[in-house]
Amino acid sequence: METVKDKLGRPIRDLRISVTDRCNFRCAYCMPKEVFGDDYVFLPKNELLSFEEIERFAKLFALLGVKKLRLTGGEPLMRRDLPKLVEKLMKIEGIEDIGLTTNGVLLKQYAQPLYDAGLRRLNMSLDALNPETFGKLNGRGIKPELILANIDHAQKIGFEIKVNMVVQKGVNEEEILPMAAYFKERDITLRFIEFMDVGNDNGWSFEKVVTKKEIYEMISAVYDIEPAEEDYYGEVAKRYRYLDNGAQVGFITSVSESFCSTCTRSRLSSDGKLYTCLFASEGFDLRELIRSGLTDAELLEVITGVWQNRGDRYSDERTEQTAKNRKKIGMSYIGG
Ligand code: GTP
Ligand code: 5AD
Ligand code: SF4
Ligand code: SF4
Repeated sequence: METVKDKLGRPIRDLRISVTDRCNFRCAYCMPKEVFGDDYVFLPKNELLSFEEIERFAKLFALLGVKKLRLTGGEPLMRRDLPKLVEKLMKIEGIEDIGLTTNGVLLKQYAQPLYDAGLRRLNMSLDALNPETFGKLNGRGIKPELILANIDHAQKIGFEIKVNMVVQKGVNEEEILPMAAYFKERDITLRFIEFMDVGNDNGWSFEKVVTKKEIYEMISAVYDIEPAEEDYYGEVAKRYRYLDNGAQVGFITSVSESFCSTCTRSRLSSDGKLYTCLFASEGFDLRELIRSGLTDAELLEVITGVWQNRGDRYSDERTEQTAKNRKKIGMSYIGG
């Protein structure tokens, strides 16, 4: 099949699949407690795509050129039997890589079954090593020791692990160097993420962003680092190598150096809507179509049309105004 390209000439290469809108954390920048309180109504089971439906979509996307899948949430490990889904997705022709993005709380239980199902890559979120800071940031008082123990556990099993740290000015900047030292020592790639204006009420402003440049200066004042080559076309992170031990550190610069021109990512929400940007306001309802009995050929035509119509480049266009006024989907709903 011919490669499908969007209006800006970008091919479709990745599908990020959210498997649940639930999470056991309440990070203020993603699921603020005031919005996601005890009475918040999450999606009922019949509105979630079944594993069979997800598998069918993944196969169709692979036919259109998708090579890489990423499972996200909310917190993906809160979806029952996730290893079974991984097993199905691993068998799809054309899929070369599957990753999982998780907060790591449930990994003690699930790391081995996921590895046995064929998963090899984990991206884990951790925003601080200081217990008080981390407990506050995750909104549940979870201790960093638990996540660190689960990282060790997953590393021993054989996973390739990256750690994601969202940096917010005045909140966890002090954690930058301790985090860098900790993960350098363990040869785990730590990626600093510039705080983004996802959703509609995460309290974002330019002032709260610590840019790559600032973090790079802090790191390079202590360690010698050199740029590392891109792992894949349009890689989200810019990575650097520590000269002394070869470990790597990266930066995800959606705010200070946007990477929309090489964005090949599509996103499927847990209730089956297709989004062509993390900051989109509307999704395209694929669940309705799959449940109304469309054939594979018909579904392929629809998905191709959505991608060909795509002109998203939100991070290129971001201003204080768009951050405030544009209606955007929530991070926990689409999974980053
Ligand atoms: P790798 O395959 O390991 O490179 O994964 P990844 O970095 O693409 O995935 P991950 O889920 O770990 O995402 C890390 C951070 O990058 C999260 O904060 C995401 O929201 C952000 N991110 C991923 N893709 C995009 C994107 O297309 N646009 C923007 N603005 N941010 C993105
Ligand atoms: N800005 C930047 N990154 C964010 N993430 C969640 N919300 C934001 C935000 N507002 C990160 C999570 C996780 C990844 C999927 O996205 O911490 O590592
Ligand atoms: Fe949960 Fe991840 Fe959102 Fe935090 S950032 S609330 S861990 S989905
Ligand atoms: Fe892709 Fe949208 Fe992110 Fe730009 S802002 S890199 S178009 S998801």
